[in-house]
Amino acid sequence: MKAKDYCTLTCGDKSIKLPVYEGTEGPDVIDITKLYRETGFFTYDPGYMSTGSCHSEITFIDGDKGILRYRGYPIEQLAEHSDYLEVCYLLLEGELPNEEQKKNFKDTITHHTLLHEQMAKTYTGLQRDSHPMAIMVTIVGALSAFYHDSTDIDDEEQRTKAIDRMIAKMPTMAAAAYKYSIGQPFVYPDNNLDYVSNFLRMCFAVPTEKYVVNPVFAKALDTIMILHADHEQNASTSTVRLAGSSEANPFACISSGVTSLWGPAHGGANEACLRMLEEIGTVDRVPEYVKRARDPNDKYRLMGFGHRVYKNYDPRARIMQKTCHAVLHELDHDDDPILKVALELERIALQDDYFIERKLYPNVDYYSGITMRALGFPSSMFTVLFSVARTVGWIAQWKEMIEDPRQRIARPRQLYVGKTERDFIPLDKR
Ligand code: CMC
Repeated sequence: MKAKDYCTLTCGDKSIKLPVYEGTEGPDVIDITKLYRETGFFTYDPGYMSTGSCHSEITFIDGDKGILRYRGYPIEQLAEHSDYLEVCYLLLEGELPNEEQKKNFKDTITHHTLLHEQMAKTYTGLQRDSHPMAIMVTIVGALSAFYHDSTDIDDEEQRTKAIDRMIAKMPTMAAAAYKYSIGQPFVYPDNNLDYVSNFLRMCFAVPTEKYVVNPVFAKALDTIMILHADHEQNASTSTVRLAGSSEANPFACISSGVTSLWGPAHGGANEACLRMLEEIGTVDRVPEYVKRARDPNDKYRLMGFGHRVYKNYDPRARIMQKTCHAVLHELDHDDDPILKVALELERIALQDDYFIERKLYPNVDYYSGITMRALGFPSSMFTVLFSVARTVGWIAQWKEMIEDPRQRIARPRQLYVGKTERDFIPLDKR
């Protein structure tokens, strides 16, 4: 990469000229890779507030303007005109597929939906009341125990096969996690259905009854999947890249992404948000919760609000709100009491100085929980759905990293503030 400029940093009695690189969009970056070697200093940036960890061509976010684009295409256009599998192709390959490429990709994914039959036994080793995300962490990691012929990361053919398998099998694994948790038989994939309809069927069909996919629900789930498909270097994606930097196999890397996603500050926020809205319960109790969220002595936060990058309305939240209305309308639940609480909470928070000053707006998780609940999913499945959708982002970023000749093992350093050297004290003297 060619430097656009240089900036000079003086550290103690040493000065260093650091290259400045310009991306196609977004802030310029200062390359500090030689800083330690030439000055003896590390940088310190807990939480990566000012640190770019890689260069990437996949997703662009402008948090101040509320912009999200995959490979240059605005999320609003993709949500309206595209479909999830097409978005998967775009994220992986960099371009929208032509008709033939689209058909071939769909065929490939469709023909990898089935799970190794032995995998069903892996589920039965887990407790019935396990959280479905706990099951997902186990099952996704277990893929590397079943598909040995796609774990060699140096073989392009194996990498591609692993990618196809991940995208194809995530819905099957997620639906089985749900079925297992409610004691119903697993439903095999039906390759006559499209990706999301198949997912809905595997989650909600039972062998005793005919299941007809509601097209409004299928469209809503497809939109949810597109909105969650990638989000540049967030916690789970960075976890996948970090795990992959040691050349671990892709299935193991994706299971590390699932683990990282689970937390309430990241993918677990949709579940936490619905719980919060249900706890608030009625519109008249909203001010009480806003008061708690702004109290500096109370650690309480409004779930589904705020974002490390967006300091404006999360563009995904806007689309999600529309999708939420469409699903509730289809169900004749336009008066859903939880939606009313959500709308009122948003209205009050957006007028409140605390939220205005900190630029806290609804994020994607704010309306996704209400929507997924309306589709019939229990809250414990919300983060699972997020993980299914985000798999393509994780695997596209993993692929980009593996194919980057500059890639090396990720190894951050630290500011050590522990004890200096001291002598061991025998037990009887402590
Ligand atoms: N409710 C109340 N106050 C908040 C909230 C919130 N949801 N989020 C941030 N703040 C306050 C925070 O207390 C701090 O105030 P002060 O400056 O007085 O100390 C200020 O805003 C900045 O917060 P921060 O924690 O330094 O910001 P961050 O960038 O480290 O955290 C976040 C981002 C998403 C973890 C945080 O906003 C949060 O915890 N939100 C709720 C959980 C949530 O909805 N997460 C989903 C994120 S979007 C989906 C995804 O990417 O996974």
